Amino acid sequence: MGQRAVREAGALLARARRVVVFTGAGVSAESGVPTFRDALTGLWGRFDAQRLATPAAFADDPELVWGWYESRRAAVRRALPNAAHVAVAAIEARLPGTVVVTQNVDDLHERAGSVAPIHLHGSLFAPRCSACAAPAPVPPAAEEPGEGRSAPPRCGRCSALVRPGVVWFGEALPAAAFEAAVEAASACDLLLTVGTSGLVHPAAEIPLVAARLGASVVQVNPGETPLDGVADVNLRAPAAEVLPELVRAAWGVDVA
Ligand code: OAD
Repeated sequence: MGQRAVREAGALLARARRVVVFTGAGVSAESGVPTFRDALTGLWGRFDAQRLATPAAFADDPELVWGWYESRRAAVRRALPNAAHVAVAAIEARLPGTVVVTQNVDDLHERAGSVAPIHLHGSLFAPRCSACAAPAPVPPAAEEPGEGRSAPPRCGRCSALVRPGVVWFGEALPAAAFEAAVEAASACDLLLTVGTSGLVHPAAEIPLVAARLGASVVQVNPGETPLDGVADVNLRAPAAEVLPELVRAAWGVDVA
């Protein structure tokens, strides 16, 4: 990947006052958390989303669905934030108005120091009642099973089954989170999109909103995406490699 593109993106970051960082599974790939659509390693190539990530799937086989999310949470607990998450937190520290909007259900942005990332697709760490929506405790790490089925706990308030606090296919995004993300994208002067295929709507609208309202867009992704034509600069490299370079190009500081 060309140093010229990094310099161009660094200049945009150095000039920016209000930044939105929009992330997808690719930002966590180098932490060992699989993406969804990468060939060979993507979750939706190996698992059937219709059996695991829809309200009907949970109604049909709650143990299968709960067990799968338990094993994903266990894998995230074993993972560590990578240099990309650290660089995002460094941008936030340098420009306190920065808003991190993530489609990821892991907690690696938080563990790298991001203050309050907006989770558009929910979180593995926010289970809730499937009937009354009351928040439920996160099972302790020791009780997480390996791969396989696991019975969901019961709600302490109404005894219905507890479900993963993630957004499933066919479900609406959490309204407050989506509104806050649209508002931040509408007000930013630079949107940095990192590690997302840009295929899942409405989340994928976020960079489009920013571009439409005149913000610069920098994309970090080793592959091609529908956002290639929207981005002012495309940094075609892994996030953990190029985001620290971007921060160095903008401000001359080393973050990782
Ligand atoms: P995808 O798996 O669709 O896309 C991951 C993107 O990351 C691809 O474009 C890869 O090229 C890129 N990528 C891979 N390794 C990378 C690296 N090291 N650095 C930077 N980029 C890298 O994941 P998302 O776009 O996050 O939704 O998927 C969006 C939503 O689809 C997810 O939030 C999930 C899924 O179904 C729900 O669970 C609701």
